[in-house]
This record gives sequence, C-alpha cells and structure tokens, in this order.
Amino acid sequence: MKGAVLAGGFGTRLYPLTFATNKHLLPVYSKPMCFYPVETLVKAGIKEVILVSSGPHAGHFIQVLKNGQDLGLDHLEYAYQENPKGGIADALSVCEDFAEGGPLAVILGDNTTDADISSAVASFKDGALVFLKKYEDKKMLKRFGVPVFDESNKRIVEVEEKPENPKSNYAQTGLYLYDRSVFQRIKKLIPSARGELEISSLNSLYAQDKKLYWAELKGYWQDAGTFRALFEANKYWAGKSE
Ligand code: DAU
Repeated sequence: MKGAVLAGGFGTRLYPLTFATNKHLLPVYSKPMCFYPVETLVKAGIKEVILVSSGPHAGHFIQVLKNGQDLGLDHLEYAYQENPKGGIADALSVCEDFAEGGPLAVILGDNTTDADISSAVASFKDGALVFLKKYEDKKMLKRFGVPVFDESNKRIVEVEEKPENPKSNYAQTGLYLYDRSVFQRIKKLIPSARGELEISSLNSLYAQDKKLYWAELKGYWQDAGTFRALFEANKYWAGKSE
C-alpha cells in the first residue's frame, strides 16, 4: 500500500508560530512534526509516500524531507493543494494519480503516534478503516470527528465533525485506510458550513454503504494543531526519548 501525509492548511491556530513556516515543520521535541507521520507509515511497511501541502510555505518541505531516504522511504512525492482551506478531503483528492487505482494509507501531518498500524495495513481489503481513540471525558471530543454507532455499538453509521453533544466516547484520529473508491466518493462531497470538504463527511459516505470499519489505535496519539496539544506532544516525545 502507498501512503499520503496531508500537510496543507494555514495553521492559523498556531499563529504567530506559523507566520514564518508551515505548521508541520515546527519542532516536536527533536524532529520536525511531519517526520512523525512519515515514520508511522514507514513502520507499517509503506515506502512510497506523497506529501500534500499548500499555502505560502509549501516549498519549505523539500529542504527538510528531501527525497525521503533518511526516513526510510523509497519514493517521496510532493503535491500542492490549490485551496489551503479546501478541507482534508480536498487535500486527499490531489493524490488520485499517485494512488494509481490502489488503496491508500492516509495520515494527517500534525498527528503523532507510536501506534503500530502494520497489521491493519497488511489485512486491509476494501471500504475504509478509521482509527479511533477512546476518551472517558466527552468534553475532550468537541474538537474531533466523533463516530455515531448503531444499536449494537459495533458499526459506525455516521461521523459527526466537532459535535456539540458527542454521541460516543471515541475521537476519530487522523489515520485512515481507503480503498480505490475514495476519489469517486470525494467527488460527491459538498463543502460544509465552514467551506471545507470534510474527512468526516467522506467517512460518513462509506458508513452509509456499511463500508466504514474501525479499529482502536493502540498507544500514544496526539494531534499537535493547538498550542496545548503541541506542548503535550513535545512533552511526550521528550519523555519517551529519555
Ligand atoms: O486530528 C484528528 C482530527 O483532525 C479529526 O478528529 C477531525 O475529524 C478532522 O477534521 C481533523 O480536525 P482538525 O480540526 O484537527 O483539522 P485541521 O484543520 O487542523 O487539519 C488537520 C490536518 O489536515 C492539518 O494538519 C493538515 C491537513 N489539512 C487540513 C486542511 C483543512 C490539509 O492538508 N488541507 C486542508 O485544507
């Protein structure tokens, strides 16, 4: 399977840190943030990766990631999302040629995890698989996509983006596996109220077809898109390296 790291957007929640460079190049302890998602893919056996970026600092990535060999990649490709606020599914749409009709492991560029997703990658067949993280405190969920389960509490029927009243205790992380139908499904999406093609809407389309599978992400997980989250990620990775 090939992999995609989505690293577009303006990173406005981290202004002024992101005035001078892209959010995904900020340090998380000893490495630029985007190293972590690339390393997660490499650990899962994925050696061909596309990095999608956008905005004024998109050109900075190549100086840092180069051809990806230092991180264990065989092939690293760069792509540009025309509308930096087009949404996560819009960023993913840019990867269609790269995917060459095959499945894709997708990870958001601000997600850091020490989880090993290699068995899910190896056994993936069709549909989409979303990795979830459980939170006892539902207040924590309001900044994430949150799955809604059927009566059996097993199958996801919908994913709600940043719900006021979360209907489960799970956060949708930024790690997904998609089959080849993903690009056709993205073409059916319409922008949300905030003008983005939402990853939650994409996953909900799979759910409508009973094709959205899930697995709990085992291990540490943090997206580093806010000051507090960036600080927490730095603390975790600093502690782990001691
Ligand atoms: O981290 C997990 C969460 O990520 C999920 O629970 C949410 O369902 C999902 O919408 C997303 O929420 P965020 O509010 O964290 O999304 P954010 O706008 O911060 O974007 C996350 C990453 O996606 C960002 O680091 C780069 C990429 N991205 C985002 C947008 C809006 C793009 O590549 N292009 C974009 O247009």
